[in-house]
Amino acid sequence: MNDNQPPSPAGADEQPLRIALYPGTFDPITNGHINIIERGLQLFDRIIVTVAVNVQKTPLFTLEERLDMIRRCFPGSDRVAVGYTDGLIVDYALHKGAQTIIRGLRAVSDFDYEFQLALMNRRLERSVDTVFLMTGFRWIFISSSGIKNAARCKGKITGLVPEHVERALQEKFT
Ligand code: COA
Repeated sequence: MNDNQPPSPAGADEQPLRIALYPGTFDPITNGHINIIERGLQLFDRIIVTVAVNVQKTPLFTLEERLDMIRRCFPGSDRVAVGYTDGLIVDYALHKGAQTIIRGLRAVSDFDYEFQLALMNRRLERSVDTVFLMTGFRWIFISSSGIKNAARCKGKITGLVPEHVERALQEKFT
């Protein structure tokens, strides 16, 4: 992770911190998500990885399990924080002082949904903007559901998720 240069605290004549929210269900976090966070750290001083509620999904992992798996991906980092909201993403962004929402795009098929989400968020709160980052080519085929399905059928998921996530999936499906 490119985490070597933590931002200095904002003083009177310094730029304010650029804080971004990276929301998602993270059921579980994958190497594709981590790729987006690492790219985001090149653009923002701090990223708040935010577990949010998608009412159409019933997560396999509890909220605490998902938060813990995310935290363990970034030990000791003062540039990656982990949060949770069951409300509007834009409200949480304002509450946390974040000016930007990060979303990852994997393929054209993601665009329609992401476009609607970004426009709705902009309609709800104009001061918060959405930035799309391309997922690295290696991770373009990954989704949390795909990984859960593979793990459920005892498929090999090594290298697609961090080791502690792989172990957590194996435990769920033993
Ligand atoms: N690498 C791997 N997978 C990726 C990925 C990447 N870079 N980018 C996206 N994905 C996958 C996720 O794993 C997930 O897979 P799954 O569907 O198999 O679980 C899927 O793409 C997208 O899921 P996610 O990023 O978790 O978003 P979501 O659609 O589940 O939820 C919320 C998006 C939570 C941010 C959205 O529902 C939300 O904003 N909710 C809060 C309520 C709110 O503010 N509503 C108003 C907005 S209109």
